[in-house]
Amino acid sequence: MESKSLRQPIVCVLGHVDHGKTSLLDQIRGTSYAKSEAGGITQRIGATDIDAVRIEKIAKDILRGGRIKIPGLLFIDTPGHVAFSNMRARGGALADIAILVIDINEGIMPQTTESINILKKLKTPFVVAANKIDAIDLFTDVKSKTFSEFIKLQRQEYRDELDRKIYDLVNQLYQAGFSADRYDRITDFSRTLAIVPISAKYGFGIPDLLMTVTGLAQRYLESKISTKSTDGLGTVIEVKRESSIGTILDTVLYQGKLKVGDQIAVNTVEGQKLTKVKSMQVNKGRKASSLVERERVSAAIGVRVVISDRLDVISGSPLIVVKKDPKKAFEEIRKESKININLSQNGVLVKADALGSLEALCYELNQSGISVRQTGIGNITKRDIMDAATVPKAEERVVIGFNVDVLPEARDAGMTADLGIVTGNVIYSIVQQTQEWIKKKRLEYEEMKKSSYPVPARIVIMEDHIFRTTKPVIAGVKVLSGRIKVGDTLIKSDGRYGGTIKSIRENEMSVKFAEGGSEVSVAIDGVTMNRQIHPGETLYVDMTEEAVKQIRDLNLDAESLKTLEEIIKIKRKENIFWGTKA
Ligand code: GTP
Ligand code: MG
Repeated sequence: MESKSLRQPIVCVLGHVDHGKTSLLDQIRGTSYAKSEAGGITQRIGATDIDAVRIEKIAKDILRGGRIKIPGLLFIDTPGHVAFSNMRARGGALADIAILVIDINEGIMPQTTESINILKKLKTPFVVAANKIDAIDLFTDVKSKTFSEFIKLQRQEYRDELDRKIYDLVNQLYQAGFSADRYDRITDFSRTLAIVPISAKYGFGIPDLLMTVTGLAQRYLESKISTKSTDGLGTVIEVKRESSIGTILDTVLYQGKLKVGDQIAVNTVEGQKLTKVKSMQVNKGRKASSLVERERVSAAIGVRVVISDRLDVISGSPLIVVKKDPKKAFEEIRKESKININLSQNGVLVKADALGSLEALCYELNQSGISVRQTGIGNITKRDIMDAATVPKAEERVVIGFNVDVLPEARDAGMTADLGIVTGNVIYSIVQQTQEWIKKKRLEYEEMKKSSYPVPARIVIMEDHIFRTTKPVIAGVKVLSGRIKVGDTLIKSDGRYGGTIKSIRENEMSVKFAEGGSEVSVAIDGVTMNRQIHPGETLYVDMTEEAVKQIRDLNLDAESLKTLEEIIKIKRKENIFWGTKA
């Protein structure tokens, strides 16, 4: 029989937060997980097996007695697109096919775009479930769940509005590089992306969605989902440590068989390791908590594998049954764990909890023009901080963490080092924060550049404000334009030496700079009052030709430019070519 040779396709449900992924699965399963989740946000990845009988029952009005070939669908609900990219199998996506849920009233949102990028990158076929069609004006509740019946019974105004929204979505998807259409208007599914309008809340369009997914899987994925009698192969999706039991590996077994007592190879922070399956549980029944023990399982299935070793298994990495020599399995794991990231000579340091999220994050950082110099799996350590702190460019002195912790001693080190730490579990907000950091640092850098060169500045010595006449001179001055700073050399309007600024005090505070407009008292070395310089005299900050060249790129204000021209004029009294070098 044909159905025996096909396993359940693995169907991943992804999309922007709150667009209805869990509700869609609830509707298919006949459960209400979405309501019981803490804060309504999916925190864990759950695999749900929907067998052929249930699919046929939901889609009976479309099938009209026909049967489907696949034994069912294994759905995986994810807390987000990134978790999806963690689920890899043999260099590709673990999911054979995906459902991208988009709230039709919101359209493509940042995490939708990220999901699309990941799907594109991993070349995973997918269909779009345009959800919440019940939230469109003039919606009428009807009995039949199939989209064709549903739409027939809606008012013309509703149909027009729905069409307009689908058209918007088609446009947005076109911008994202896909030619898409409503599924019932498509002739060639290998060229056109199917949009199935649904309501996860009421169940409308779900039969159509299931049949579209099933149809695509049967038609295009047959070779991928035909069962092969290999040793068990799986992907660890989530890792939990429970001191009383050991380490829990939530795994999707996508090929072969797995049984209690099997020796398995896994990938840990310390490299490839062998361990043993101590026990296994699968989710049965309709409650999130209804786990039942199993001695053996076969693909495709979501299974909780318990091992007794305390291992730091990396989520997103392979789990391979090892019968004899582990060499091949270890090699496979190494290959699978190769990081596919563009590293640059310069750039930021990125840490993440898993390979897939690391890749997805680095990809998005690259896309927004941020280069990555170094990456790693695991929490942010003191070592990471030390590494990042030595980077020469200030804007690249940043450590980025996705879904990881900043270890206490790293946090301490970070407090004193001049660097940024950006952490979170939403890619686009991490990218945004990093961009902001870079922007801030660039501005600071411009400022710093300005301050490390003398800014063209002009001061006047205030009469009646001479507090000391020599060694050093202490006098009140008004900064007429630009900025003076400690260490600046002053010149007189005839180009002769006017002393060196030793310190600046403003309102009894010692300061490094004084800006145009301020009145401060300065200590001036190297000259004596009433001899080289005089009360009421205007002095300029001396500049080198090199500094003039640098300063010209710095967007000076008009007043500073005027002062610069005056300084150049003074300098040219001695050298007519001064400041003309390119
Ligand atoms: P995350 O797991 O946090 O990413 O969210 P999710 O995509 O799983 O969304 P979820 O299913 O939790 O639904 C989010 C909200 O949208 C809930 O309040 C649902 O009741 C509501 N919702 C989901 N589907 C529909 C729908 O078809 N119609 C309407 N009106 N509301 C819906
Ligand atoms: Mg959810």
